[in-house]
Amino acid sequence: MTKRARIVGVGRYVPEHVMTNDDLEAIVDTSDEWITDRTGIRERRIAADHESTSSMGAEAARRALASAGLTGQDIDLVVCGTCTADHSFPAAATLIQHEIGAPGAAAFDVNAACNGFMSALSVATQFIASGQSTRVMVVGSEVYSRILDWTDRGTCVLFGDGAGAVIVEATPEGERGSVDALLLRSDGSQAGLLYANGPATPGDAAAREAKVVMNGAAVFKHAVVAMAEASAEVVAQAGYSVEDIDLVVPHQANRRIITALADRLGLPMEKVFLNLHKYGNTSSASIPIALAEAVAEGRLKAGDRVLLAAFGGGLSWGAMTLEWGGVRHPEAATADASIART
Ligand code: UT7
Repeated sequence: MTKRARIVGVGRYVPEHVMTNDDLEAIVDTSDEWITDRTGIRERRIAADHESTSSMGAEAARRALASAGLTGQDIDLVVCGTCTADHSFPAAATLIQHEIGAPGAAAFDVNAACNGFMSALSVATQFIASGQSTRVMVVGSEVYSRILDWTDRGTCVLFGDGAGAVIVEATPEGERGSVDALLLRSDGSQAGLLYANGPATPGDAAAREAKVVMNGAAVFKHAVVAMAEASAEVVAQAGYSVEDIDLVVPHQANRRIITALADRLGLPMEKVFLNLHKYGNTSSASIPIALAEAVAEGRLKAGDRVLLAAFGGGLSWGAMTLEWGGVRHPEAATADASIART
C-alpha cells in the first residue's frame, strides 16, 4: 500500500556576507533602480571562501532536524538538489549525510538546475510512498557566486548563495499533512537557453569554464507559462480549486515572473510568499529557504493547503500541492543572526 508523505521539519542557512545592488554598480554597468524594477531583488548573500554547497546544506539540514525534534540517526536517505556541488563527485548529499550524523543513510544529488529541490522532494515523496524510506532529508543548496560571469550584467545581478532543507516522513494513520499531487516536466530542446559548462564539457579548457549563460527574456516567457500550467494541473489532480490554496511558495527568481504566475492562476499576491528581495535567485535553495521563513513568520499552519512551483535550466519545471502537517519547533528553522535583518 502506498504511504502518504508529509513535511515535518524545515531549515535554512544563508551566508553572512550581503551584496547589495549598490555593490553591483561598482562591478558592472547596472543600477539599483534597474535591478529592483525588473526583478524585485535588493540584495543577495555570497558564500565565504570556506563555505560550500555541502557546508551550507548541512547547516540548513541541522536546523531542519532541530525544528522537527529529530537527530541525524532518524534519517535514512539524504537527497540534495544542486547544480553547484562541491565536487563532480562524491555527491554533496554524502558530505551532508556525514556532517549531520546519519550513518548508513543513502545519499545522492539531483541536478535539475533551479528545479532541483522540487525534483529532490519528488524523489523523497516516492521513496516514502513505496516504503523504501522512513524519513528523508531533502536539501537544496547552491553557490552560484562561483559559476557566475561577473562581467555579464544580464545574469550576475540575479543570483545568490544559500541552502534550505526539509524532512519528509510517512504520515501516521489519522494525522495531518501529505503531499497531494506532484508533476515534473522538462524540455531538453531548449537546453541552450540557460546553462553552465563544467569540467566534463566537450572542447578545450576554455569551454570547460563554469559560467552561467542565459537568454533571460526567453526563459522568462517559458517560466510563466510552464509554472502556471503545471500549477493548475496539480491543483486539479489534488481535487482542490485555486481558491482553496492558502499559500503559494514559488521559486524565487523574479518578482515579475511570480506576479504573472499569480495573475494567471487568479490568486491574490497576499497568498504568495516572497523573499527574493533579500536573497535573489538561489536556484535549488530558493523554495526550502522560503518554506523555512514562511514557517518562522507564522505564515504556515497545520492543515494549510500549499502550492509549490519551480522552473529552471534544462529546461525543467514542476509543481506540487500539499497539506501542511506542522513543524514542532518553528523557531529553530531560521535560527541565526541573519534573520534579524528581515
Ligand atoms: O531560475 C531561472 C533563472 N532565470 C531567470 O529567472 C531569468 C528570467 N528572466 C528575467 O528575469 C528577465 O528576463 C531579466 C531580469 C534577466 C531581464 O529583464 P528583461 O525585462 O527581460 O530585460 P532584457 O533582457 O530584455 O533587457 C532590457 C535591457 C537591455 O538593454 P537594451 O538592449 O534595451 O538597451 C539590456 O541590455 O536591459 C539591459 N540590461 C540591464 N541594464 C541594467 C540587462 N541587464 C541589465 C542590468 N542592468 N543588470
